[in-house]
Amino acid sequence: TKRIGLVIVVLGASGDLAKKKSFPSLHALFANKLLPNKVHIFGYARSDMSDEKLRDRIKPMLKGEAIDEFLQCVTYVRGKYDAPEDFSALNELMQRKETEFDCARHGRLFYLALPPSVYPEVCTNLKVCADESPVRWSRLVVEKPFGKDLASSEELANTLGALYPESQLYRIDHYLGKEIVQNMPILRFGNMGFMAMWSAEYISNIQITFKEPFGTEGRGGYFDEFGIVRDVIQNHLLQVLAVVAMEPPRSNKAEDIRDQKVKVLNCIDKVRAADCVLGQYVGANGKPGYLEDSTVPAGSVCPTFASIVFRINNDRWKGVPFILKAGKALDERKCEVRIQFKEASGHMFDTKMARNELVLRIQPDEGMWWKVNMKEPGMSSKMVITELDMTYHQRYEGLRMPDAYERLILDAVKGDQQYFVRRDELRAAWACVDDLLHEIDAGKVNLVKYPYGGRGPPGADALAKAEGFVRSEGYKYKKATAR
Ligand code: BG6
Repeated sequence: TKRIGLVIVVLGASGDLAKKKSFPSLHALFANKLLPNKVHIFGYARSDMSDEKLRDRIKPMLKGEAIDEFLQCVTYVRGKYDAPEDFSALNELMQRKETEFDCARHGRLFYLALPPSVYPEVCTNLKVCADESPVRWSRLVVEKPFGKDLASSEELANTLGALYPESQLYRIDHYLGKEIVQNMPILRFGNMGFMAMWSAEYISNIQITFKEPFGTEGRGGYFDEFGIVRDVIQNHLLQVLAVVAMEPPRSNKAEDIRDQKVKVLNCIDKVRAADCVLGQYVGANGKPGYLEDSTVPAGSVCPTFASIVFRINNDRWKGVPFILKAGKALDERKCEVRIQFKEASGHMFDTKMARNELVLRIQPDEGMWWKVNMKEPGMSSKMVITELDMTYHQRYEGLRMPDAYERLILDAVKGDQQYFVRRDELRAAWACVDDLLHEIDAGKVNLVKYPYGGRGPPGADALAKAEGFVRSEGYKYKKATAR
């Protein structure tokens, strides 16, 4: 990346995403010397702002070294999203920078930290800046929500697809930038043991769980239009499912991996309201309920919790339910994949054996652990449940875990699309939940009220149980701590 001049444009520079994610990630890459030496960042938005004001806005979000050096590379451009002349002016500024850089090759990265409703006009107007040539590449990073259902997502994809080839479009799903998710191909296909047991022959059920201990808290206007299925399950959790369930790719090239993700997503049966438990939180423990959030429309029937059983129709997963659960205003923050194996027969012990579980902890405190049966240490010969534990911060001292956005922006700079969602993947993921979303929007579903700060609707536990999940009694995971 040394002989290249890089100009980045953050569109929507005055917004929340830019402030909280885009700029801090760019700074971290800059501070860790992962960006080219010749780099400039334009923040583009409609507000009237000076360079200094933009810098003051993002500065409090930056941590660590080289903050002022970084901020010197950031300038502000005021422009409308529907004014072609403003984009021509942006193009001139970019060209001027490139002339100054005087590199053999140039890259232009456009980060659209904007609501997708403005994508069509922004992407059309951006054409003047986003041309490609033998000495210049241009890439667009776009953020979800990509539509509201299969049809609207396809419409958006057609519009963008008519303007840019897939190779220029980087659809971000930041869950693909998380350590544990990125580790899946090596864990699964680099270890004979895991390869051998990764199927319906040994696995009983798989749960992918996302919990947050807070509600919409003022973000209800956005959330209410989408709901938990679109906000977390259709994208993040189905992406995790795809990497957990896909067949071995031919190589580790982006297209080979994405081909396999599409294939497995296409094997999923469409889900309906009958396959789920849906809920909406109500006020409890001094916290307001969803409908009490002033940004939420009165009487909203938007789910803030969903537990959905997905079935994959192929040989590997026949009969193994994938239970995807996501909820706001629950008892803790966590995201994990829990693979529960069938129990060993245990005939020589004359007892019912506890099931093994492999838990991949995406957050917080990345790690994975395997619940196993063991002899109680010492004189006893009693059988106990314990765990083989690999907690990253215990195993790798002083480890710095880059934020998901940092990894993904760097990949976009390098031109690696492996961890970005391809158009056909997006379509396949929408197709799985499309019928359900229409049922929800039509208010045809049962929405269970659950208290803020609890485990969610009890029906979700019952659903998992009915699908074959067995909770082990009297066992509590004890996380390994630093030696
Ligand atoms: C976003 C959702 O995509 O992911 C949010 O819109 C959610 O509602 C967030 O809170 C969770 O991301 P993370 O990385 O904090 O788990």
